[in-house]
Amino acid sequence: MELDSHLFIPYMESKIKLIILIVLSTVSSISFATLTPKNKLEKTGKEIFESNCARCHGTDGTKGKWGAKNLKLSNLADNELLTIISNGKRIMPAWNHTLTTNEIELVKEYIKTLRK
Ligand code: HEC
Repeated sequence: MELDSHLFIPYMESKIKLIILIVLSTVSSISFATLTPKNKLEKTGKEIFESNCARCHGTDGTKGKWGAKNLKLSNLADNELLTIISNGKRIMPAWNHTLTTNEIELVKEYIKTLRK
């Protein structure tokens, strides 16, 4: 059977257009993903601190409300910080029900940057 070029060429053109569309949309979604770092979508340690901790500790860590420890002077090790943030201590509330493990890690890293 001989191919009818009047039908075959438009048919192939439509297939090629479809392939180009698929390739373009794949490329653009990949570049969108690489241009949007994950931590842009998640809250940063600073944001977590300012929305949950600053009301007692102050944005710079020195407010001391309800006897909140001065975080500039605190020199606890990482595991001690994680324990206090997760479980709380006396007036200091526990955060393990409100924040994810990853958020507790981020806020722990952030409060260390408040130290002098
Ligand atoms: C309701 C007030 C309050 C809030 C909110 C609060 N804290 Fe505290 N925090 C305290 C108090 C009070 C202490 C002192 C606990 C003690 O030793 O009796 C403290 C102690 C700490 C300590 C121990 C410091 C040291 O050197 O002993 C860390 C670390 C800490 N808070 C981090 C945080 C983080 C991170 C958040 C937010 C996720 C937070 N706190 C939210 C009141 C608060």
